[in-house]
Amino acid sequence: MAKTHLMTVILAAGKGTRMVSDLPKVCHALGGRPMLAYVLDVARKLESVKIVTVIGPDMPVVESIVDEFSKTHDLKIETVIQKTQQGTGHALMTAQDHLKGFEGNVLVLFGDTPLITHSTLEKLVSFKNAASETTIILMGIRPEDPLCYGRISLKPGGDVEAIIEHADATTEQLQNPLCNSGVMLIDGKALLGLLAKLTCNNANKEYYLTDLVSIANLQGLRVEFVEAQADELAGINTRQDLAAAEKILQNHWRQQAMAKGATLIDPETVFFSYDTQLGRDVKIEPNVIFGPGVCVRNQVTIRAFCRIEGALIEDNAIVGPFAHLRPETHIGQKVRIGNFVEVKKSKIREGAKVNHLSYIGDCDMGARTNIGAGTITCNYDGFQKFQTVIGEQVSIGANTSLIAPVEIGNKAVIGAGSVVTRKVSPDSLAYSRAPQQELIGGGARYRRKHSKLKIIPKKV
Ligand code: UD1
Ligand code: MG
Repeated sequence: MAKTHLMTVILAAGKGTRMVSDLPKVCHALGGRPMLAYVLDVARKLESVKIVTVIGPDMPVVESIVDEFSKTHDLKIETVIQKTQQGTGHALMTAQDHLKGFEGNVLVLFGDTPLITHSTLEKLVSFKNAASETTIILMGIRPEDPLCYGRISLKPGGDVEAIIEHADATTEQLQNPLCNSGVMLIDGKALLGLLAKLTCNNANKEYYLTDLVSIANLQGLRVEFVEAQADELAGINTRQDLAAAEKILQNHWRQQAMAKGATLIDPETVFFSYDTQLGRDVKIEPNVIFGPGVCVRNQVTIRAFCRIEGALIEDNAIVGPFAHLRPETHIGQKVRIGNFVEVKKSKIREGAKVNHLSYIGDCDMGARTNIGAGTITCNYDGFQKFQTVIGEQVSIGANTSLIAPVEIGNKAVIGAGSVVTRKVSPDSLAYSRAPQQELIGGGARYRRKHSKLKIIPKKV
């Protein structure tokens, strides 16, 4: 559909009472991203002439999601505030100023229905184009458990007669498996007239968007529906719905990762974010979590129990088991990050090894450097963060504290147990240790003294 023919209105002003949360519902995250951002993304891809988001008053978090999205995508998104949340129909009425004089189709999306895909919406739009005399087209679903969805009642010919909200439905009407997903495409020429007829004479005393269907029928206008995958159109009202949607997304991403050439030994235990990128022949062992902003290149192995976010991992690196990579981490080719190693805001260059029990933060580490077990970059003095620069082919002995800011030259060797506070020049050997004391026979004397003091419980 040509850009000038479509306007998208996203309803996102609901408080989400059923989430029992201080956070507005549409801000709750799936795969590391607020659900509203998914809806904004499909709206963006449809190339509507205008995107209008209806949000609630005092919802700065929702506003900032919209602002950030429009900045990231260099896209203008109109925002209107629904001062009192009087239902989905009322939310659309709030956007009336944008609808006046618009003669194309108005697509209504819900901020709490984030799994909908671009291709499904494209099908809806082409269906409407082919049925230009139809005023409203709905998306119907047949969920396994229809719960609180509105039910779509059909006329004998198959057109839609009405949507009956769960709260207003009879037991018999609730037997109807055909549910309303909430997504609607409405002829802009008729919309304002239909909205003007909305009332709130129902169980919830709300202006239902869904009443537009019976109003259209009363005016002799045609309403049809297209059926979509229930999983994709799932509405999120509760924490249980949120968990179910997360599962759907994760399963989709796992399948996609494997289809693109990654091995997931136990897929169900690997969790991706919406933007995780994996190269070819990546191997992911069980229990790995990817936070946002991760790019894994080819032939990388991620061993079990790692958490990785905001990191780039280059070809042939091995990470884990039990590693934690935090934002702004760059792991070079063939790098080895071993168990119980945390890396933050650091660049570890080609072939370097940090194999055991280390914290590397605010560090630039040269190629083929080896970091001994228990080495810590002491980057924070309680007030500021400082940088550690380690050259190429450096060998750092176990249990070394590098007190930043500090620099270690190429091929330097640091003795184990050192506390390094000053710059070490290339090829130097540096160490700092308290001199070792040895008292000959002292160990035996110590044992004798302490064994006398030992209280041996009497047998009873
Ligand atoms: C709605 C539909 C129901 C459908 C279901 C699909 C109505 C009356 N009911 O019910 O038929 O089966 O979605 O998931 O439309 N919102 C506002 N302002 C409001 C109220 C809601 O912007 O005053 C927004 C919410 O933020 C949400 C969307 O509209 O994104 C849907 O609202 P919600 O309260 O979740 O409706 P449901 O009860 O799920
Ligand atoms: Mg809902």
